[in-house]
Order: sequence, then C-alpha cells, then structure tokens
Amino acid sequence: KAEKLALLEKKNAEALLGGGQQRIDAQHKKGKLTARERIDLLLDAGSFEEIGKFVMHRCKDFGLDKEYYLGDGVVTGYGTIHGRLVYVFSQDFTVFGGSLSETHAEKICKIMDLAMKNGAPVIGLNDSGGARIQEGVMSLGGYADIFYRNTRASGVIPQISAIMGPCAGGAVYSPAITDFIFMVENTSYMFVTGPNVVKTVTHEEVTSEELGGASTHSTKSGVTHFSCANEVACINDIKRLLSFIPQNCEDEPPMLPYQSEDNEIRPQLNDIVPENPNQPYDMKEVIYGIIDEGEEGFFEVHKNFAENIIVGFARVAGRSIGVVGNQPAVLAGVLDINSSVKAARFVRFCDSFNIPLLVLVDVPGFLPGTDQEWHGIITNGAKLLYAFCEATVPRVTVITRKAYGGAYDVMNSKHIGADMNFAWYSAEIAVMGAKGAAEIIFKKEISEAEDPEAKLQEKVEEYTHKFATPYRAAHRGFIDEVIKPEVTRKKLISAFQMLENKVDTLPRKKHGNIPL
Ligand code: COA
Repeated sequence: KAEKLALLEKKNAEALLGGGQQRIDAQHKKGKLTARERIDLLLDAGSFEEIGKFVMHRCKDFGLDKEYYLGDGVVTGYGTIHGRLVYVFSQDFTVFGGSLSETHAEKICKIMDLAMKNGAPVIGLNDSGGARIQEGVMSLGGYADIFYRNTRASGVIPQISAIMGPCAGGAVYSPAITDFIFMVENTSYMFVTGPNVVKTVTHEEVTSEELGGASTHSTKSGVTHFSCANEVACINDIKRLLSFIPQNCEDEPPMLPYQSEDNEIRPQLNDIVPENPNQPYDMKEVIYGIIDEGEEGFFEVHKNFAENIIVGFARVAGRSIGVVGNQPAVLAGVLDINSSVKAARFVRFCDSFNIPLLVLVDVPGFLPGTDQEWHGIITNGAKLLYAFCEATVPRVTVITRKAYGGAYDVMNSKHIGADMNFAWYSAEIAVMGAKGAAEIIFKKEISEAEDPEAKLQEKVEEYTHKFATPYRAAHRGFIDEVIKPEVTRKKLISAFQMLENKVDTLPRKKHGNIPL
C-alpha cells in the first residue's frame, strides 16, 4: 500500500514539474510565469480542482514514444473567482512548447463541455508553439474540435482568452471566436503566419512584435481587446471583467449593493460640453460623471483602438451596464469602419449576456472618403445598426450634443428599439450641421444675394434656430425628455430600474444574417 501511495505522490510531483525545472527556469527568465503559477494567481486561493493531470499523448512518431510528460502541456480544471465558478485551461510552454496534441485538445474540450453543461465561463491562458508538429493532422483535428465548441458556446457562456506567449497559425482562431482577448505586452504575439513566411511571400521584413505583438493588435488591428503591462495585470483585468458579467446567457450580471443617495445630482456635468459646437471635449468626463466610482469605475474595452468611439463596462447604482459613447475628442466622434465594428461587437456581447446598454451620443455623421467607401463603410456601418436593432436588453440613450443624419438613427435611436431617450438641452438633432444644410438648401438664394456671405449667415441662423435643437425630436416623442446635464445620473438610475424586468423577444428564426 505504501508503495502505491508513493507512486501517486511521485506522479503528482512529476506532473507539477511540467517539462522540468530547467525549462521552468527558462520560462521565468523570459519574464513569463508557468501555467500553474498563472492559475494560482487567477483563481481564489485553494479553489483549483485539476482535471486530467496524468493525461499523456499517444504519438509514437519522431521519437515521441520516448518522451512523455504528465498532463501533456496543458493544465485544465475548475475553480472560483470571487466565489463564482469558472473553468480554466492553461497551456504549459515547458512541455513541447505548449504545443497542441490530440490529447491536449481533448483536455480542453472536456472542460469546455463541462462549462456548457454547467453554465460557467471558460478562461483560456494561451502560451503555445501551435500544432504539435510530430502529430500532424491529429493535432489539426484537435484545434477544429475546440473551434467547434467555441462557436457552439458563443453567446451561451462567456469565453475569455489571454495570450501569454506565442499564438500562431491555426491557434489564433480559438481566441478569435471567444468574447474577449487579453494580450501581455512584449511577451505575447499572435499571427496567422510568422515573420519568416511573411518575408518569403511578400518580401516584408517585420519583427514578431511589430507583426502581432500586443501594441499592434490593440491599436492597429483591434484583434485584442486589452493590452496589459504584464501577466499579473492581465490576470487582474480578467477578474475585473468577470465582475461585470453573468455566468451564462440565462443569468443576470452581478448586482453590487448600493446605498441610494438622496441627491444624485452631478453639477460637474453641466460644464463639459463647450459653447462652440465644433470644439471637442472628452466624452469620458461625461461617463465618469454619470457612473458609480467615477473614473475608477469605468472598465474600458478596446481602449486604444478606434478611439472615436468608447466602449466599456461600468455600474450605475450597483447595476452592471455596457457603455457606448461617441468620442468628440477623436475625429470629432465620427463613425467609421473600425468604430462601427468595435461598437457592434460590444453591443452584441452585452445583448447576449443581459447587460443593459447606455449609449452617449455626440456624432457628426459617418466619415466621408474613398478609403472608407472602398473598404465598405456601408456594410460595416450596418453592423452597428443591426446590432442595436436586434438588441433586446434595456437600452437607454443620452444625446449630449450632435446627432446628425443616419448616425442619429444608428446610435440607439428610439426608432430602432431604444427604451428611453434623453437629450441634453444643448443637443442638436438634425440631418446635418446648420452651415452645410444652409449651403445646400439655400444655394441659389445665397449665390444670387448681393452679399452672399451675409445671406449664408442669415440662413445658417434660421436653420440653427429651427433644427439645431432637441425640440423637434421631443415634439414627436423621439426624445422622451430633454434634461439638464446635472440630472443625467438620477434619470439613468431610475430608467434602468424601471427597465429591470424588460421582456422583448426577436421573431422566431434560425439566426439573423448580420452583414459581415
Ligand atoms: N510542436 C512540437 N514541439 C514544439 C512546437 C510544436 N509546434 N513548438 C515548440 N516546440 C518545442 C521545441 O521543440 C522545444 O522543445 P525542447 O524544450 O525539447 O527543446 C520547446 O518546444 C520550446 O521551443 P523553442 O523553439 O526552444 O522556444 P522559443 O521560445 O525559442 O520559440 C516558437 C517558440 C513557438 C517561436 C518556436 O518554438 C516555433 O517556431 N515553433 C513552431 C511553430 C509552428 O510552426 N507551429 C506549427 C504551426 S501551427
């Protein structure tokens, strides 16, 4: 009996060492943590239960029949974060470079299946040299088994990917399907084909970091939603994200206790929008002025990508909400391809997981130009429109300044299903800015006038007076209430509470056909 117990203990100790102390040291030397250290940081202390610790690969080719490691390069199991159940897999770079074998994939699929059946998030910590080269198609099949599950689980349970080392080739497509990607600066990269292949095919010389590092994907491509300074910051951000979202699509987001204050008036909101309608201001100041805990309370997603729109999570009176806001401080808050796609994906996430939406509008329209038209602003802008139209969660809009043209419709207008629409009294809801409008509709009158400049000015004033206000829209009921900025938070607390039990369903269908 003692011998049998000793065997178990030996195996347990062996599994904990992964690819051995030397490779663990090499991992640390690169500034990276091991798969198990990452899990320890992620989960509540002592909560991790491992599944498949002694799994080994079945490959007999290229000398692998002589090289086995317990666990086969991935640590899988479940545990809790702030007391809530999560499933986790963490690739172990010390074992065959964290490469994915048939059995490695089976372990990941096993916890994904459990997560689906039990309705809890899956967190994948990726650090892998890709397909286990010695296994060939068995490994490719393993990837496909994961992609299939990622897709089936999409919109059912939250799926989060952290990239903490290499993630190349087919490996990128699992994170790509999941809801959020986190990357660690300087130690992680993602690309479909690496620098060597790029050089051969396109003759471009590019480093891994330039091609697919965290800074590239958080600013240029938008592939990653979060770029984190180091692994510890990355893991803390994952935990923070989870605090806003429910366990599955049937669950409600966590509600924090909130002591209702007698006075929710925020006078600082009155001074944010400048007198001059063409002067920029920072919509984040508006967000901070509205939400619980101010700046600290806003968890921004896609912070450095398509900055002309802001998306992120926050709380209003303890209730988790998704915020979408045009950013007048960047490109005047115009909608373009990247900002439309960024916001559309965020809106769809919130709608999948019962997170109410707050939309802050100051939008001069869509960005004109050949670049935008040729890259499909029509199709891409339609994604945001479609995402809002199909969203059935509580939806509240506040127009802080401009809501012009088609962008007015797109930005969660009443017409496309928003529940409560507010406008600050300085809002301008019109087809376009007064100057542009006057130049078009009074073109003849202006050109024939003795003093065209004075005539233009007169017409601009006429148009401004008539249309550059929220009242035309309010007369029609397109705006439910025109308000002073300072009462916005109070109104929102009340609106989201009123909408708490909203029930709305889409017509029966297999699924919609969002313009991709
Ligand atoms: N299959 C099997 N083993 C792999 C592997 C893979 N895809 N990727 C890495 N390994 C092994 C290496 O043989 C090495 O083994 P060792 O510890 O016994 O020496 C170990 O993992 C670490 O790899 P190494 O190359 O020393 O690490 P690195 O940090 O210098 O480089 C990579 C990391 C990922 C850039 C490099 O390993 C690589 O290019 N791997 C192949 C990537 C690929 O083409 N994958 C298949 C396509 S999806």
